[in-house]
Amino acid sequence: MKRTSTIFICQNCGAKTSQFFGKCSSCEAWNSIIEEKIFASESKKITKNSPRSQQKGKYRSELISSIQENPITRLSSGYMEFDRVLGGGLVPGSLVLIGGDPGIGKSTLLLQAANQIAQQHSVIYMTAEESASQVQMRWNRLKKTDSNLHILSETDLEIIIEELEKFRPSVAIIDSIQALQDHTICSTPGSITQVRECAAALQQIAKSKNITLLIVGHVTKEGMLAGPKVLEHLVDTVLTFEGDRFASHRLLRAVKNRFGATNELGVFEMQGEGLVEVSNPSELFLSDENATGVATIVACEGTRPLAIDIQALINQTTYASPKRTATGIEGNRLHQILAVIEKHMQLALSRFDCYLAVAGGLEVDEPAADLGIAAAVISSYKNVQLPPGTILIGEIGLGGQLRSVGQLSIRLKEAERLGFERAVIPGKTPKNQISQKEFNLEIIEASTISEALSFALGLNF
Ligand code: TYD
Ligand code: MG
Repeated sequence: MKRTSTIFICQNCGAKTSQFFGKCSSCEAWNSIIEEKIFASESKKITKNSPRSQQKGKYRSELISSIQENPITRLSSGYMEFDRVLGGGLVPGSLVLIGGDPGIGKSTLLLQAANQIAQQHSVIYMTAEESASQVQMRWNRLKKTDSNLHILSETDLEIIIEELEKFRPSVAIIDSIQALQDHTICSTPGSITQVRECAAALQQIAKSKNITLLIVGHVTKEGMLAGPKVLEHLVDTVLTFEGDRFASHRLLRAVKNRFGATNELGVFEMQGEGLVEVSNPSELFLSDENATGVATIVACEGTRPLAIDIQALINQTTYASPKRTATGIEGNRLHQILAVIEKHMQLALSRFDCYLAVAGGLEVDEPAADLGIAAAVISSYKNVQLPPGTILIGEIGLGGQLRSVGQLSIRLKEAERLGFERAVIPGKTPKNQISQKEFNLEIIEASTISEALSFALGLNF
């Protein structure tokens, strides 16, 4: 008979204790500790005849150069944007976790991808949250044609594993891991122990039967994947699907990827008939306005350049201390840039409120946006428009100097492609050698923020 024992596990950080506490001593979360029963597995001793003892004395390791290379043939998900984020497609036998807020479109994305993959490979969509007919309703809504896609509505892990073993699909989709239940564990579905055990069982079958698993994971209130880090360590790739629920575009990002680069970005748009790929996302984030306080930058998401409009509004304050808000840009970054402008351009911004926003609800966290932010702020402050067709790229140092940024030529190529005429960039450094001839753009190099903005706005600072 299996022995059971009771432990208390924090659902927030996974810390284990032997007694109940109202507050987790490890992550300090309140009411996160839950009692869970676990079956003690029999300890595996190394006996004389076990394979481990027979190998005693022999090396198991091998020379790195002598290991045979296994070329990976990736499966296409049918969507270029999805494949890009995966690093070129799905790797057979890998586990991909897709996290995101409820209602963002995870099930829709995976159903569409499953349908595409099923044109050529065997695919099973296991839904633990909806009934098979609900999934079919969505499928009808997506106006999908006939394909070789199987559906199973099941929450029991044992049945799911059995089906995977019998059916042996190339790709299986599990929607979602938090709804699965392993009946040998006495804790509720979605608890840390359940999530971990279900994921471990699925991993084992994926690796042994070479099935690619796409697993949906829910996100907690704080935006973390529920069943915290345990899942992220186990899987090969972690993707997040995000976006503003009130805007139609959705961003797919890789947070961890054993088979490709992270920080790659895929852009989709949610329409009445499902998700549509956006292959030219720069157009989504350009506001097409000619107004004061608008500056265009080219940010890089992974290797993907995106032209984005930054908007600023500077108004005389009526408060004791001026109000500063930033949407899509870190507040500290804005404060820092305002301080540099005040000190090195002698503009008294401390009596002005400053509101900053990135068009399209995107988050920009790279320093290359600094010059664009400063230009938007000064354009609004001086009530002077930036000349149309200008982009600004550069990091601003605390001394007011412009620092070079990475992937400059990719950014300039994107600006050129979108029909921009002029680019203000940091002056040449040994690291960053851009030749004017390479681009069909007027390239203006500046070494300080005042120099760059004098050029851009045609004013004297
Ligand atoms: P869903 O895939 O169920 O989200 P998740 O699995 O992440 O919880 O998507 C739900 C939302 O998408 C829902 O609010 C309706 C919207 N939607 C569309 O706008 N168009 C469509 O064609 C579909 C299928 C869904
Ligand atoms: Mg869903």
